[in-house]
Amino acid sequence: MNVLFVCLGNICRSPSAEGVFRQVLDNASMIEQVGVDSCGIGPWHVGKAPDKRAQAAAKQRGIDISALRARQLAPDDFADFDYILAMDHDNLQAIRAMQPADYAGHVGLLLDFAGHADAEVPDPYYGGDQGFEEVLDLIESASRGLLNHIRSGA
Ligand code: 4NP
Repeated sequence: MNVLFVCLGNICRSPSAEGVFRQVLDNASMIEQVGVDSCGIGPWHVGKAPDKRAQAAAKQRGIDISALRARQLAPDDFADFDYILAMDHDNLQAIRAMQPADYAGHVGLLLDFAGHADAEVPDPYYGGDQGFEEVLDLIESASRGLLNHIRSGA
């Protein structure tokens, strides 16, 4: 089982989701069973560490995402990942545009797993620190839902 989180730049939301979901898996003793990665739609930040504000907000919750490096969504990801989860509708549209017709995995919005159908994780890049807290709150909620979903074998 492999899960890929996708945002625009891969420096704010999706690396945060990667870090939070790893922690959730670790707490559930499932870190060995589920692979986790993140990527971005855009090329601008490839090779860079997560935004300092994202690193700081995650660290406050006991999560170290400093070693992550941004990369772009690639065609091979559809062979490698069972769940490809977008932060917003634009990301989702970009994923679907690259999705092979025979992809048998799940492409959707992350917050569907938080019980918020059609909801987005807002892009915090141009906002203040509070935006990064909101991102983490939303991601934590969805991560618990995603864990339960995977555990239930659905
Ligand atoms: P992310 O945030 O998609 O959550 O990583 C962004 C980071 C950078 C940019 C946009 C969003 N940017 O335009 O450079």
